[in-house]
Amino acid sequence: MRELFSVEGRVAVVTGAAGGIGGAIAELFSELGGRVVASDVDEGGLSRLVSRISSRGFDVRGFRADITSVDDVRSLIDFSLRSYGRVDALYVVPAINIRKPIGKYSYEEFDRVINLNLRGSFTVLKEFLEVMKNNPDGGSVVLFSSIRHLVVEPGQSAYAATKAAIVQLAKVAAVEYGKYNIRVNVIAPGVVDTPLTQQIKKDSDWYRAYLEKTVFKRWATPMEIASVAVFLAMPASSYITGTVIYVDGGWTAIDGRYEPKL
Ligand SMILES: NC(=O)c1ccc[n+]([C@@H]2O[C@H](COP(=O)([O-])OP(=O)(O)OC[C@H]3O[C@@H](n4cnc5c(N)ncnc54)[C@H](O)[C@@H]3O)[C@@H](O)[C@H]2O)c1
Repeated sequence: MRELFSVEGRVAVVTGAAGGIGGAIAELFSELGGRVVASDVDEGGLSRLVSRISSRGFDVRGFRADITSVDDVRSLIDFSLRSYGRVDALYVVPAINIRKPIGKYSYEEFDRVINLNLRGSFTVLKEFLEVMKNNPDGGSVVLFSSIRHLVVEPGQSAYAATKAAIVQLAKVAAVEYGKYNIRVNVIAPGVVDTPLTQQIKKDSDWYRAYLEKTVFKRWATPMEIASVAVFLAMPASSYITGTVIYVDGGWTAIDGRYEPKL
């Protein structure tokens, strides 16, 4: 039974590992006995993460890669295979958000969001799946959407569009690669305290409105998202594929307009 909830000896590649959620995934996966290739475009952040994990005696190796570059992604695959011989779990994490009304969005900004969130994710997915399909035990891929693929507020146009696209991309990948025993799923977080959301955290009204929208009246920690991401690499999740797991503290359950006095 313990095997069901283990990633012992498994190999994970975490992109966006210098960030809030990616960093927590890399930490948790390695602390549970897995082996991790942590990757990010931010070399400084990445080396701090790798030092933090390895100083505690866990197995992690860092590799700088920009996921918008096909060459970088292929180099990351080479590094991962040279390091550990295979990839069992892949986390496709990086994204940016430029929060602006549609009328004020420049085409350059729109392209920047699409290029990382959608094309970058697609590149990682495509290149890794073609390698992972040779793994006799299959594998697990986790992509990151957001509650913004379902519910929005002003300013989320390009970001929300990419997050909706990620859901469909993952479903198609799950269908195409199921025959190789590769599972592909999406996590849709609510609001998590990471560098991505500092603009909101710094605005006290915006910050409070977000926590009020959840059942627990608080934001999530990165580890509360990472724990679900790591579960998706465990044998316990072997029948989960092509789906979205909401980790949103009830955000999408509540309509939030009014609390009747019952
Ligand atoms: N934080 C939240 O509240 C929240 C909510 C919903 C969804 N999400 C999603 O979760 C994922 C992780 O978000 P986060 O909050 O940890 O973000 P973050 O900003 O903390 O981390 C993102 C990481 O991606 C890296 N990155 C950026 N461009 C890159 C590139 N071209 N190549 C490689 N790495 C690159 C950054 O350097 C950074 O370390 C994202 O997909 C995000 O959309 C986050």
